[in-house]
Amino acid sequence: MNEHEILLEVRGLKVSFHTPRGIVQAVGDASFQVRRGEVTGIVGESGSGKSVSAYAILGLLAGNGKAEAGSAVFRGRDLLPLGEKELRRIRGSEISMIFQDPMTALDPAFTIGKFLTEVLRSHDRTVSRREAWRRSIQMLTAMGIRTPEDVMRCYPEALSGGMCQRVMIAAALLCGPQLLIADEPTTALDVTIQEEILSLLLQLKEKQGMSILFITHDFGVVARLCDRVAVMYGGYIMESGSVEQIFHSAVHPYTQALLRAVPRLEDDGDEPMEALAGDPVDLIHPPQGCVFAPRCPQCSEECLLKRPLTADLGDGHTAACHFVREGGGIHV
Ligand SMILES: Nc1ncnc2c1ncn2[C@@H]1O[C@H](COP(=O)(O)OP(=O)(O)OP(=O)(O)O)[C@@H](O)[C@H]1O
Ligand SMILES: [Mg+2]
Repeated sequence: MNEHEILLEVRGLKVSFHTPRGIVQAVGDASFQVRRGEVTGIVGESGSGKSVSAYAILGLLAGNGKAEAGSAVFRGRDLLPLGEKELRRIRGSEISMIFQDPMTALDPAFTIGKFLTEVLRSHDRTVSRREAWRRSIQMLTAMGIRTPEDVMRCYPEALSGGMCQRVMIAAALLCGPQLLIADEPTTALDVTIQEEILSLLLQLKEKQGMSILFITHDFGVVARLCDRVAVMYGGYIMESGSVEQIFHSAVHPYTQALLRAVPRLEDDGDEPMEALAGDPVDLIHPPQGCVFAPRCPQCSEECLLKRPLTADLGDGHTAACHFVREGGGIHV
């Protein structure tokens, strides 16, 4: 296995939604990658375009949405032009996704056993019911569920949120995907359960070399789980790099502001987060220059007029800011 092999490379992704109020440019320009065996985080505030980016890759955008530009190359093949039939084959077998609210993702009319065995059999009709049952039990056990037979006989309403998310992760992994896209999978769960799900994902990464694209607004989670991180704001990637680079050498004023807002470990958790001043981006009338300029403490005239290019700072560290120069020099 080539450690640095790129499994998914998203370049110049642009996604718009047609609405009665006008065209919402949810993602203006997003480029990021997931390497084999690594976890890439996409971090950013609510509405920054994280989920839309993931949905666009998998062809799951709402009917009024469209990936207008860019590419999402997965194992050498661009997913964006693919038709629904091909995408459906890829979803769940090569790429799986788990969502924020596990309760709503499960159909209340089916037992977990019926759900999991159908997931397997819908991808491979040659798998017998008995074999599908056996593999489902095995997967639930791998998810740390101690009484998998009992869980298989339950309807979703009988299970806790944490248990439902384990079932969803089991379902996502049943067909052996190479990439798991996790969209805030722990946000709806209480803190101890969050911790358990994160440990489970860490184990999957470490023991099975699973690649994960992990969407979150929580830098604490990024620090625990991710190898690389892309910081998103207003539909643009502001900065990306290894977790080390982002936590210790962030150069973008937005990343720096977000990091300042992370509650310190020594705080007792009651301290309010230092919020960023200003309003979120109007995606129907996005700013002409840098999308962060109206809230940026370093904003200059150039920032208001011109969108910054993404500078390569070396070793996989990039930033899109007029104050950051190619090669790493910071221009002030
Ligand atoms: N179907 C749609 N029609 C119009 N606008 C949409 C649609 N879906 C998403 N958007 C808009 O796209 C923008 C990006 O949304 P997205 O869900 O990707 O944000 P996010 O970064 O995942 O935020 P959160 O952390 O709250 O989940 C938002 O302004 C949202 O309102
Ligand atoms: Mg989201």
